[in-house]
This record gives sequence, structure tokens and C-alpha cells, in this order.
Amino acid sequence: MKIIKKVKNKAKLTNSSARWLDRNARDKYSKLAKQNNLRSRAAYKLEEINRKFNVLKNAKFVLDLGAYPGSWLQYMKGVVKSDCQLIGVDLKLIESIERVKIIQGDFTSAEVQAKLEEIVLRNGGGFDLICSDMAPSTSGTRSINHINIMNLAEAVFLFSEEFLGERGNLVIKLFEGNTTKLFFNRLKERFSKVSFFKPSASYSDSSEIFIIAKDKIVSK
Ligand SMILES: C[S@@+](CC[C@H](N)C(=O)[O-])C[C@H]1O[C@@H](n2cnc3c(N)ncnc32)[C@H](O)[C@@H]1O
Repeated sequence: MKIIKKVKNKAKLTNSSARWLDRNARDKYSKLAKQNNLRSRAAYKLEEINRKFNVLKNAKFVLDLGAYPGSWLQYMKGVVKSDCQLIGVDLKLIESIERVKIIQGDFTSAEVQAKLEEIVLRNGGGFDLICSDMAPSTSGTRSINHINIMNLAEAVFLFSEEFLGERGNLVIKLFEGNTTKLFFNRLKERFSKVSFFKPSASYSDSSEIFIIAKDKIVSK
């Protein structure tokens, strides 16, 4: 009975969704995530980023954008000190995680940004780390995916100008395209060190890449 249901459901999937599900089932990071009760294999991307760039060092106030289903939050909660405040934002509702503040909504909306501003004011200082794994719904056209994710990245950068603390770090997911380098150069003017990084947990045939910007320079 169960098998028939599974096959029927699979038949409803598009070819690319079915391929993604098959690959996911075989993938080592998906298996590891399941074994370690992580909500998604994406946690291993942040784990690699943090191992290489130490972005969570001494973090006390962290914002995770595009946080659903919550594996980056789960990973962060496991490595930061218990007094670190973690905030996750997503369009979708994230199932609650103890001691993590969840905001459901569009990060680019005035409403969500006002909520975040209020949290920063209450904290009395900016974030130590802002990370974004936000991804727009993708189409088969790489250039459109690139433009859409760059709009989100731009919103994160503008937000960081105001609400990332002195010497704070930024991690942003991008889909590579013709404006990636331009964005990199803009971040270089505002941070001491900027790098591109493709974690091995990121599928090699995807254009996904992360930009890591460390030590925000404070304008005098
Ligand atoms: C790849 S998933 C994030 C996975 C997550 N880092 C984890 O570890 O579980 C990308 C997420 O970005 C969210 N997203 C896309 N655009 C957004 C926006 N404007 N505001 C908030 N979230 C957004 C999507 O809803 C989606 O859940």
C-alpha cells in the first residue's frame, strides 16, 4: 500500500524534482543530517564555513536570514555560548528551537526590518554575525536566478551597513553570475577581508557560492 502511494506521489513530481529527491537520498550530507537530527543537509555548509573562517568566534548576537527549516540555527546553537542571542527569519514558519527567536516574514519588507531594528535597539548594539542562506525560487534560467539572489544580497548588505556591529561578520549565499565580482568589490570597501567559498556540501553542478566578509570597518 505504502509503496503504491510513494510511486503515485513520485509520478506527480517534475523530472527535476524527482532527480533532486533521488540525489538527496544517496547524498552523504543528507544521511549525516538525518543521523544527527539536523533539519537539513545545509548545516554542513555553515559548519565548513565556520571551520575555515571562524565567523562565529565570540558571537553574542547572530541573525540568520532564510533560516527555514532551521539547520543553520541548530548548528549555531550547538557551537555558540549559551548567552548568545540567535534570531532566525524566513518566509516560512520555522518550527520552534529553544532559546531562538523566530520571525516569519519577508526579510526585505519594512515590517520585518522594523522588528529587527527594535531587537537591535533592545540589545544595545549591532549583530556580531549576519548570515543569509536566502534563496529565491529558482527557474531554469541561471541569469534570472542570479539577478533575484543579488537583489536579496543587496538588501542584506544595506541592512548590515546599519545593523552589523563594529568588526562584525557577514556570510551571504549567491548564485554566480556577471555581477558577483562587483558585489565582492563593494564589500571589500567595507570589510577587512572578503572571500568566496564553495563548501564541499554545496552541489558541484550548482552555481551556489558563499561570500564571507570579515571585520566590518567602522566609518569615522
Ligand atoms: C536554502 S533555504 C535555507 C536553509 C537553511 N539555511 C537551513 O539550514 O535550514 C532558503 C530559504 O530562504 C527563504 N527566503 C527566500 N527569500 C526570502 C525572503 N525574502 N525573506 C525571508 N526568507 C526568504 C526561503 O523561504 C527558504 O526557506
